[in-house]
This record gives sequence, C-alpha cells and structure tokens, in this order.
Amino acid sequence: MKFSVQPGSCLTGRVRVPGDKSMSHRSVMLGSLAEGDTHVTGFLEGEDALATVAAFRAMGVVIDGPHEGKLRISGVGLNGLAAPRAPLDMGNSGTSMRLLAGLLAGQSFDTTLTGDTSLCKRPMRRVINPLERMGAVVESDGEGRPPLTLRGQRSLKGIHYDLPMASAQVKSCVLLAGMYAQGRTSVTEPGPTRDHTERMLRGFGYDVQSRNGVISLGGHGTLTASTIDIPADVSSAAFFLVGASIAPGSDLILEHVGLNPTRIGVLNILTLMGADIQVLNEREVGGEPVAELRVRHAPLKGIAIPEQEVPLAIDEFPALFIAAACAEGRTVLTGAEELRVKESDRIASMAEGLTTLGIHTEVRPDGIIIDGGALGGGAIRTYQDHRIAMSFAMAALRAEAPLNILDCDHVATSFPGFAAVARAAGLLLEEVH
Ligand code: S3P
Repeated sequence: MKFSVQPGSCLTGRVRVPGDKSMSHRSVMLGSLAEGDTHVTGFLEGEDALATVAAFRAMGVVIDGPHEGKLRISGVGLNGLAAPRAPLDMGNSGTSMRLLAGLLAGQSFDTTLTGDTSLCKRPMRRVINPLERMGAVVESDGEGRPPLTLRGQRSLKGIHYDLPMASAQVKSCVLLAGMYAQGRTSVTEPGPTRDHTERMLRGFGYDVQSRNGVISLGGHGTLTASTIDIPADVSSAAFFLVGASIAPGSDLILEHVGLNPTRIGVLNILTLMGADIQVLNEREVGGEPVAELRVRHAPLKGIAIPEQEVPLAIDEFPALFIAAACAEGRTVLTGAEELRVKESDRIASMAEGLTTLGIHTEVRPDGIIIDGGALGGGAIRTYQDHRIAMSFAMAALRAEAPLNILDCDHVATSFPGFAAVARAAGLLLEEVH
C-alpha cells in the first residue's frame, strides 16, 4: 500500500491518536504475570502490541479483547506461564522481543523469539550480554541477532548493570529478568530513558527503588492486578505536532496525550525551534501526566538539538527532521547513533527521502545536519519503517508537488487508522493499493 499525498492543505480540528505503544506492551506483560484480572482501556490495537498479546495467549494467558481499546487480562501469576508450542513471532516489534527476552530468561521452559526481516536484523547483544551475566542461556544466530532461544531451568542471580547505551528496552529487559532472580537487580543509565516499566511495576504493587540514578528491585515479588488507562501516544501525536507547525493556517488540538517527562523531548525540541504548542488541562491519569495539546502554525528556525533531549525524543526524530527541513537555517543533531538501529536506519532513510525532496543534508555517524529549504515532490522509500512513512506524509503539507510514499503497510504496527485520522484533520492523503 502507498500513500499518495497532495500538497496545499493544513491541519485543524480535534484529534485523538491511538494509545501509547510502550504502555500497551507493558500492560499485557505485567497484567499476564499478575494475580487477578487486569482491565486496560486505551490499548493500542496496532500490530506490535497485538504481537505481545498473541505471545502471552500462546503461553496460556486468557486475554479478552481488544474491543475498542479495552482488554481484560486474567493474570496467571509470576510463575504461571506455560511453555508455548511454537516460536513466538514478535513481528516488527523490538520492544516485544527485548522485554520478553528478560521475562522469559528465568522461566522453567525454553522459548524461541522470532520476528520479521527488519526485526531479525536488529541487535540483540545489548540484551543477551546482561542476561548471560545473570546466568541465562540465550542462543542467537551467532551474530547476536534473532531468532533468540532462551533456555529454561536456569536460576538467575541479581546483578548490577551499567547500561552502555540509553535504552529503555535494555533497562526494562534487565529489570523484568530481575523479578525472577535471587537477590537484587539494579541498573544505571547514561541518561534518563522512558520509565514506564518502573511506573507500571509500582502500579502493580511491585517494589521498585529509584535513588541517585540507580533503579533496583528484588526478585520473586508479587504483581497484583490493576486497572490501566493508557493515554494517547505522544510519539503518534508527534506527526501532527510537526504537520500543524509547518502548515500555514493550522490550528489543531490533540486530545489526552501522555506527557510522561521521559517522553516530552519532541515538545522541548519543537518549542526551541519556535513552535506554538500550548499544554492545556494537564492532569494525572493512572500515575502518568496527560494533557490536551493545541498546536498552531508558526515559523520554525533551525537549532543545535541539545544532546540530553535525544533519548527523550528518540522515536520522534523522523518527524522532527521534517520540521527541520521546513525551518529557516540549519538544524544539527548529534549523539543519536541509536537511530541507526531502529525499524530502519532512520538517519539514512530520512536523509534519502529529504534529498529526493530537494533538501540538503549531511549525514554523520551519530546524527545529521539538515538545511531548511523549499520541499519538492517525488517518490519516497520508507524501508518499511512506519515512522518514515508518517513523517513524509506530513511533509506534503509544505511540498510544492505531490508525494508518493511507498510501502506504507507497516504504519499499522504503531498507528492503525493513521490515514483516516490524518484525513479528518485535513491532510489530502489517499491510500493506494
Ligand atoms: C521503547 C524504547 C525505545 C523506543 C521504542 C520503544 C520501549 O527503544 O525506540 O519504540 O517501549 O521501551 P530503546 O529503548 O531501544 O531506545
């Protein structure tokens, strides 16, 4: 499926984007291992989160739904999972694979985790190394790539792990394995990364300490079933924040957006670039800050992106690169080598698409320089990366000719219904099969 997007419109009205992907995964994982029934609302019915649901069903957990974002998970307790009959297919989802590797390393049975071609190219040594130090036995393709087989019957021991990269997935993997370890497990991170695992563990009554940058928990505690209201995903809202910022005439409200402080890099960076974003009606829902965001068109300027914002905006850079292309002057991103190992190499994929549109970029190993300018049209390759597709769809708002965005099926991994939501806000987008 392709997106064919015409230039010349703007974004107006009210939009509620789907539920947060990170929280949706974790709600299923912790709900499955809790004692009792967990009720989830606002669940993201995207392919990635559904891969996590399917994995727990394959391990014997009864999960009703999702129906209109609602799930009921009948938890089996920390030691209640059953051996799956076949390898668990995580599809495109790095979060499912890395977090499940941690959860499954301490089970009594063997499990194999596999995925699609993109996921099977992604680095897993980052989780294999700490898990092996804990006593797990993890087999990979030999180069640290999936499929991963976790051998059961191992007793894990708690370790302290200094994360070599800012990765919430690696942090979460180690903490989740720590629930099955003897003694305490602790991690330190080079900089703060999203903390949904810690928050949600606490929401399920598990004692997690965060002190002086050290996050720790003890093994063999209990998770108690909970009720979880998942807010709209700020990573999906990001496309609309950028679209409305770059398109003259735009005035858009994004409803019920999760504004966890470890996720708001995109707001901070856009604001530094001159965006007009108002945070309205801020409140707390289920232990997470939530608000409406009003975004209006504003002239943007290029900036040097502060490196401390990088982990807090890690999924939003494809959209931010479109903002940079529409800004006056030069935007410089450094310290973002992690972008190279996402669903695609996002520095390379974005640079290629921006070049097609006539934007000058200079690619660096850990970032990119983007000189703002006029955007032409053309055909964009997405490398089957959902966020590349949605970012270029928004670029059409400022392009001088139509954009043809190829291979857009993967948009459903994180944002099912993107085309309809974007059209309702005013984007002139057609899906071409
Ligand atoms: C995620 C963490 C991030 C992010 C991914 C979701 C999570 O990955 O890119 O989309 O839910 O923990 P890293 O932690 O590897 O940066």
